[in-house]
Amino acid sequence: MGLSEKIAALQAEALEKLKKLANDQELNDLRVNVLGKKGSLTEILKEMKNLSAEERPTIGALANEFRDKINFMLEEKKLEFAQKTLNAALVQETLDVTLPGKQQKQGTRHILTQTQEEIEDIFLGMGYEVIDGSEVETDHYNFERMNLPKGHPARDMQDTFYITEDTLLRTHTSPLQARTMDAHDFSRGGLRMIAPGRVYRRDTDDATHSHQFHQIEGLVVGKDITMADLKGTLDLVMKKMFGQDRKLRWRPSYFPFTEPSVEVDISCFKCGGTGCNVCKQTGWIEILGAGMVHPNVLEMSGLDSSIYSGFAFGLGVERIAMLRYGINDIRGFYQGDVRFLEQFAL
Ligand code: PHE
Repeated sequence: MGLSEKIAALQAEALEKLKKLANDQELNDLRVNVLGKKGSLTEILKEMKNLSAEERPTIGALANEFRDKINFMLEEKKLEFAQKTLNAALVQETLDVTLPGKQQKQGTRHILTQTQEEIEDIFLGMGYEVIDGSEVETDHYNFERMNLPKGHPARDMQDTFYITEDTLLRTHTSPLQARTMDAHDFSRGGLRMIAPGRVYRRDTDDATHSHQFHQIEGLVVGKDITMADLKGTLDLVMKKMFGQDRKLRWRPSYFPFTEPSVEVDISCFKCGGTGCNVCKQTGWIEILGAGMVHPNVLEMSGLDSSIYSGFAFGLGVERIAMLRYGINDIRGFYQGDVRFLEQFAL
């Protein structure tokens, strides 16, 4: 058989095999077997050296033509396989948009946040500013400026986490009183602010105490602020939060940074004052501490206490929420148990 017949036979065989290819692997095998270094075409071409000079170009051209044809057809097959794989994947991954979706569980704002924001709204409505403070505070602002010099016995009740000797986690939101007064331009009038946030304190954790909790500080400073303003303000706020028929009771108390100082009780919103489990049979519920800003605190902020006066109060957000929603264990707020939290979903 001459070389041209051999090439023709090889071509016929290759085309036959090409038709039967099933996948990329077989396709590669065929390419190697026919066109590869040790493939059938290479073997045939080795015999070219026996040809005459006239025959050689004709056979060479024949061989090239065959190689191009096979290459082209292999390439076509390859594309066909790729398209098949893609089609199969498309069919498999079809998305049925009419199937019911998976319901996403939607969270809710934490009940403490809700309570805080509700109180903020009441004060915003009365023209107060809401001040954000830092939980890391200096001894200077947390104690000294609140009229609690080093060695003051009332510091004992407010031991806390110290970062350095002079830097600590604040024990109350009261340092915002001094900070706000420092920053305020009194030539433009008095100030009204509340400062909500987290505080830290030496406490034995139990059902009603936590070493970490939330307070809202309130401060009003101006030229004619009296205790009547404090009473009127708290009366309004407590009625908004616990019902219009609440009465307030004022008991003398002590805080180093207010003088006089008071502890404020509200008449029990559950029994109305006759005595029940919420008010521990007393008819009254202790709700916050307050007082007239101590002259020393005003003076330390550079204010003349014969001209300026003010009132301040501090209330516990947890306590308010516990009372309003009948929560009897403060730890529920912090444990992140969804069953607890979702009861307060809006
Ligand atoms: N800072 C006080 C406390 O944490 C609360 C308070 C604030 C009392 C402002 C009076 C005036 O107990």
